[in-house]
Amino acid sequence: MDKRPVAFLDSGIGGLPYCRNFVSRNPGESVVYVADCAHFPYGERGREELREILRGLTEDLAARADPKMLVLACNTATVSALSFLRGQFPRLLFVGTVPAVKPAALGSKTRRIGVLGTRRTIDDSCIAELADRYGGGCSIVPVAAPELVDFVEYRYTAAGEGERRQAVLPYLERFRNAGADAVVLGCTHFLFLLGEFREAAKPDLAIYDSVDGITRRIESLLDGEGGALRGGGAAFRRFYLREPRLPAGGPPADSPRFWADRMGFELETL
Ligand code: DGL
Repeated sequence: MDKRPVAFLDSGIGGLPYCRNFVSRNPGESVVYVADCAHFPYGERGREELREILRGLTEDLAARADPKMLVLACNTATVSALSFLRGQFPRLLFVGTVPAVKPAALGSKTRRIGVLGTRRTIDDSCIAELADRYGGGCSIVPVAAPELVDFVEYRYTAAGEGERRQAVLPYLERFRNAGADAVVLGCTHFLFLLGEFREAAKPDLAIYDSVDGITRRIESLLDGEGGALRGGGAAFRRFYLREPRLPAGGPPADSPRFWADRMGFELETL
């Protein structure tokens, strides 16, 4: 038995749908969630800068919480730094999140797949690599949506249904115009808008995400080696917040606190 927590990390609230899915299926596991709001948005930063940020954060997290596994619940962090972090922390288990191109390729009839992500993810060579490896000959229509990341982080909790619905429409329009019939949500923040995406995608577009795939991957690692990594006993839930550094008069960034409270996680600053 290993009672150490499973850690989830993102630049803000984006990784919470992944964390929530894992918690609901694995209530006996302790979980910590790390929101690095001090460096939000990751998608507007360079690869080297992100590697350094994530190296420091992983070091702090390891000292504070000693996790048995770190889930990068962030596509941008994964494509920029997963292999680097594995090299830096050889004793820590990592799980990364990349756009779910494989199931989209299996489902696409037009053989064109839209991928929506941050600028950093969309500009990364991972998109071409995923297409080569899992695309089954489909072509990718990559679209960066930094405004949608900001919308989720800053406005989602206060926005009404109409505003949320409107927020996804222009992207689906672009994918339709490009002849795609499958759209991959390649940024974890967009999972907050999954219902809106699915509704507006009807009837011609299918939406794909990696939430279930990532949960299954974590579970299979915990179950490996005879389940030695499985937790048990009293589980705890903690939300580590790296406070946002927002200019005065900037957007309110109360959403991490709102969600920590909503999910019943104990809040601490890191
Ligand atoms: N949630 C992140 C992702 O999956 C990144 C958002 C950001 O900080 O730009 O890519």
